[in-house]
Amino acid sequence: MTGLPVPTMPAPPVAVVGLGQLGGSLAAALAAAGREVSGWDVDPAARDAAAARGVRIGRELSGVVVLAVPLPVLGTALDGLDVAPDATVTDVGSVKAPVQEVLGGRFGGRYVGGHPMCGTERSGHAATDPALFRGARWALCLEPATELPRWLRVAEVALAAGAEVVPATVAEHDAAVAAVSHVPHLLAAALAAAAGAAGPLALALAAGSFRDGTRVIASDPAFVTAVLEGNAGPAEAALEQVRAQLARPWPELVAAGHAVRTADPGRRPVRVPLDRAALLALGRAGGAVTRRLAAFVEGWVPEGG
Ligand SMILES: NC(=O)c1ccc[n+]([C@@H]2O[C@H](COP(=O)([O-])OP(=O)(O)OC[C@H]3O[C@@H](n4cnc5c(N)ncnc54)[C@H](O)[C@@H]3O)[C@@H](O)[C@H]2O)c1
Repeated sequence: MTGLPVPTMPAPPVAVVGLGQLGGSLAAALAAAGREVSGWDVDPAARDAAAARGVRIGRELSGVVVLAVPLPVLGTALDGLDVAPDATVTDVGSVKAPVQEVLGGRFGGRYVGGHPMCGTERSGHAATDPALFRGARWALCLEPATELPRWLRVAEVALAAGAEVVPATVAEHDAAVAAVSHVPHLLAAALAAAAGAAGPLALALAAGSFRDGTRVIASDPAFVTAVLEGNAGPAEAALEQVRAQLARPWPELVAAGHAVRTADPGRRPVRVPLDRAALLALGRAGGAVTRRLAAFVEGWVPEGG
């Protein structure tokens, strides 16, 4: 401790394009925290709902620009909008490689791909929940071209919304979410379809296991299909892993799955320098960033990590 005041950068304004479940929730969370937030949506009802929560509606976007539109329009949603030349651009799309290609190609190191690991099977501005990000992991991609100060700026927005930030490369992100999100959607679809084929008696007896195992496939099919098609290679590889698991003897498989699902490794606090390799190592260890300070970030890793 030097006792000297630590210079703090003023929090940049945030502009959110797409004010549905994810974008409306982020804008509402930041506005509720007293941040300057503007936003835009093609749907007037979404604009009105966001305005009622303190979001300034307009086409001029500066500071940290967050794209929270459906995956198929991520590449075009900024057309016709006025993006400040020094703005940092990020998105919340569920797949990163195709978005990195389009937005990274357009904005270079000013683009930082992101993916908050939250959301429900509901969609649209009526699903807005300012508490949506609280305690959620928010993957933020660090590619060789990503400008680290901009990555930190986007991380600060995610932290301000209540999330914990997980650094990862685009490829690492897409492989990881294929295993924990995209394959679960496919399995949920298969379970539901097989239960339907089993007949009305099976559906009448369906209870907790069926509900928990199929919840995600109640999501908008267009959304799920866009995500799966956008991450087809990693999703197929992750599905192959599941097929291999299903080939194991059942007692062995049940024990292995139970061990992973019930493990509780605990957390060890860590400080990580503002360095690309160190941040990526934190993400690979299963840890997350919880606070940004002047010369380092604070976070945690699983005990023993
Ligand atoms: N729903 C989830 O669980 C979840 C979780 C994490 C990430 N995501 C990602 O977040 C993004 C948004 O998903 P969502 O669930 O909030 O969807 P949503 O349908 O709730 O909201 C999307 C909003 O974007 C608006 N929009 C559509 N085209 C637009 C355009 N060209 N310009 C401006 N606004 C436009 C729509 O009017 C709508 O308000 C997607 O890319 C999705 O992959 C979703």
